[in-house]
Amino acid sequence: MSFSSIPFLDLVTPHVELEQELTAVFQQVLRTAGFIGGPLVENFEKAFAAFCGTQHAAAVNSGTDALRFALMAAGIRSGDVVVTVPNTFIATTEAISQAGALPEFVDIDEHTYNLDPEKLREYLETQCRVSADGKLLSNRSNRPVTAIVPVHLYGQMVDMDPILELTEQYRLIVIEDACQAHGAEYFSRKHKRWFKAGSMGRAAAFSFYPGKNLGACGEGGAVTTSDARIADAAKMLRDHGQAKKYYHDVEGYNGRLDAIQTGILSVKLKHLPDWNAKRRERANEYKRLFAASEGEIQAPFEPSWSRAVYHLYVIRTTDREGTMNHLKKAGIGTGIHYPIPLHLQKAYASLNYRLGDFPVAERVAAEIVSLPMFPQLTADQQARVTEEILAFTTKTTGKQAEREDSLSAAAERTA
Ligand SMILES: Cc1ncc(COP(=O)(O)O)c(C=O)c1O
Repeated sequence: MSFSSIPFLDLVTPHVELEQELTAVFQQVLRTAGFIGGPLVENFEKAFAAFCGTQHAAAVNSGTDALRFALMAAGIRSGDVVVTVPNTFIATTEAISQAGALPEFVDIDEHTYNLDPEKLREYLETQCRVSADGKLLSNRSNRPVTAIVPVHLYGQMVDMDPILELTEQYRLIVIEDACQAHGAEYFSRKHKRWFKAGSMGRAAAFSFYPGKNLGACGEGGAVTTSDARIADAAKMLRDHGQAKKYYHDVEGYNGRLDAIQTGILSVKLKHLPDWNAKRRERANEYKRLFAASEGEIQAPFEPSWSRAVYHLYVIRTTDREGTMNHLKKAGIGTGIHYPIPLHLQKAYASLNYRLGDFPVAERVAAEIVSLPMFPQLTADQQARVTEEILAFTTKTTGKQAEREDSLSAAAERTA
């Protein structure tokens, strides 16, 4: 029997489907030579802010810069500690370090894989102290803890109510890493309404890397905020620290997003609600299919307060390597997001964390596999992915033999 392969991600189909609209953007920019700034950038910023439920958005050249500019614009200073999770893409901590701050980690929740509010409370209560002048200091680094970066990993928002309660109590700035969560929603029990990712912190960062739910045809990112001062500061930082040409209030960066990319993103933004709905349908279908796995496969957990947008569909299995090899042989693409938690990365050896410091993140990192997930994925393709996984787990756990034994015993009884 021969099967066609199933890619981890299909980036070609949506671009072919939108080819005319996307090339029209390119033609429009060519004919005006408005490559940098201008109405295409401003229109996208307005539309993206409206989509996220914020007052402002600043388009920048990557998610990493969005996070760095958001931190700097919100007042993070050199020498501050910024708290985040160890199971994120390294860009989260790169941005923290590049803003001059020091990352410190708090472990994740076993079910959602996101920042665990109880572990944040424990960190603040037992690993920090308040100095004579009222600053919250980290015991491990003796530096002031000023901000938290909750990461809405895989497209599901962090449980923000308890996090915001703690950050209000400790007067900490919250910058959301929403780089994987365009359109994800959170139901606040406190405010009794749904919030979009990017609208709950003082500011947030999004990535428009091509494979994201909203991706550019190249690099891109955005800062969202409802604080006009943060929006203005982020816009200055992306443009060499100038609000007026050649009048530099601060030293900034070359971090602008060009007009072609924003034009492309405006075209795609109109499709994002439909694409996200399709991702949710695909996730429901996987969940239904994995219900037959008898607990061997742990499908993603979506709490009732969450409407995730499944940037990635991540399962857990005890034989991760075996499962991935089996799928590879069957022509099915997979990924690991991410294999080594940041506190154990060579790049962060100087932070002096050890194996065992964040047991949940470490355990999860050893068992996760990301399966094919994109809006154009078909139910037939999903059936094949799950059949292959279930065939592999049944074989390796010996359940198949058990089932065959009990079937033949039953057959003998009825004979
Ligand atoms: C959680 C997270 N944070 C930050 C980033 C950085 O975004 P970019 O690659 O656009 O710089 C990414 C992108 O992969 C991400 O997934």
